[in-house]
Amino acid sequence: MKAILLAGGSGSRLYPLTQVASKQLQAVFDKPMIYYPLTVLMAAGIREFCLIATPSDLPRFGQLLGDGSRWGISIEYREQPTPAGIGQAFLIAEDFIAGGHVVLMLGDNIFSGGDDFPRAMAAFRGGATIFAYHVKDPQRYGVVEFDSEGRAISIEEKPEHPKSAYAVPGIYIYDDQVVGIARALKPSPRGELEITDVNREYLRRGQLHVHRLSRGFAWMDAGTTTALHEASAYIEAIERRQGVKIGCPEEAALVRNFLTLSQFEALLQNMPNCEYRDYLASVAAETRRLRCE
Ligand code: DAU
Repeated sequence: MKAILLAGGSGSRLYPLTQVASKQLQAVFDKPMIYYPLTVLMAAGIREFCLIATPSDLPRFGQLLGDGSRWGISIEYREQPTPAGIGQAFLIAEDFIAGGHVVLMLGDNIFSGGDDFPRAMAAFRGGATIFAYHVKDPQRYGVVEFDSEGRAISIEEKPEHPKSAYAVPGIYIYDDQVVGIARALKPSPRGELEITDVNREYLRRGQLHVHRLSRGFAWMDAGTTTALHEASAYIEAIERRQGVKIGCPEEAALVRNFLTLSQFEALLQNMPNCEYRDYLASVAAETRRLRCE
């Protein structure tokens, strides 16, 4: 399975932070925001990525992530000239998708905990799989309604009167129908090709599977300055308490065997002396010990 990381948009709600670096390049505690969704996907075993961003931000993502080879993955880049909607990602990345299954993940969604995503990706056979997460303020999101047997019966984008408290997070799995569905989308009243309309079409076809994320799962979207600050505070609290880091692509590459231990250790040589490097060095030492090398 391949993945699209959508990291465009104007980031206007984070002004003035976003004057020189896009939202997804901002720091969430100790790492750039884009590291978190990238790591979630790598940890699920994905190695082929297409990152979509604005023409002005794309070179900076290239500088940060390169072609992915140092982490044992590949990253291609595509421009989205204007923020015409999340659904446009499938049209921009059509040749990358090349008729296969694809995960779309929003570059400002941060997750921690659980193995729901790797399981859902491994179990995916066709149609669409999306996720649902209980929130206090569903009207800010796509909202999914369930019947008494737990089947999804409606999805609405930012409804004034939400029919449930279940929001749809920014990670979606689709089969090869998605490009055709995206091609037929009409812009919504806010002028965007809506991801919710893609999901509604799968629902209409009887091919939408909605996986409810468990309570222990954390989902944050870092779209406002308050949300960005809260996400940083959350990551800091977990990292300090547990002594492990969330959102390290290097670590995911090692765990998934995209890199050998020696390749992983070689990466450290090119990093400045810093806490991040010290952490990865401790991961290397622990891995060496467990593997009895
Ligand atoms: O975060 C989950 C929510 O994301 C879903 O529940 C909603 O159904 C979905 O529409 C979306 O809502 P948002 O209002 O949060 O979308 P926003 O316009 O903020 O865009 C989300 C991310 O996608 C953001 O990082 C920028 C990027 N983006 C957005 C658009 C519209 C693009 O790269 N290009 C675009 O054209």
